[in-house]
Amino acid sequence: MKTRRHILSLVALIMTLVLIQFIPVHRTNPASETEITAPGPVLVILRKACYNCHSNQTRWPWYSNIAPVSWLVARDVTKAREEMNFTTWNRYTPIKQSAKREDIWKEVKGGHMPPLPYRLMHPEARLTHEEKEQLRAWSTTP
Ligand code: HEC
Repeated sequence: MKTRRHILSLVALIMTLVLIQFIPVHRTNPASETEITAPGPVLVILRKACYNCHSNQTRWPWYSNIAPVSWLVARDVTKAREEMNFTTWNRYTPIKQSAKREDIWKEVKGGHMPPLPYRLMHPEARLTHEEKEQLRAWSTTP
């Protein structure tokens, strides 16, 4: 009797996992406008560590196709783009752009960005001391 109940709950779980795959996920890359201007090495760092969330050039990983992970990834990217988008940089006034530049260093210095789960999954987003130095120098220059 107990085994039967276990099998039934396993079947229910598998069916749920299959069914949730049909829930639509908003996972798109809108057109890029004007990209942020920064010295070459800084741009390289931003592109490899931040662009997957903070740009319209997201490289969606294979697991972003599978619910429920896809929901979390899509939500993160939407929120990140709303906060700061490096490929629609033209939409910010010069004052806003400098403020964002300062925020970038604040977030990286504090270890908040890139988010820890992302750093665990993406070795290239773990910034070295030198890379952080480059971000600091760039973002604190008026
Ligand atoms: C996995 C997705 C992801 C990556 C990668 C990522 N961010 Fe974020 N970022 C977010 C999200 C989501 C937010 C919205 C605020 C929050 O939920 O923490 C955010 C917010 C921010 C903010 C605004 C914080 C504020 O309130 O002022 C800054 C600045 C920022 N990120 C910088 C960076 C930088 C710089 C990098 C790369 C070194 C980076 N982020 C990489 C997801 C990401």
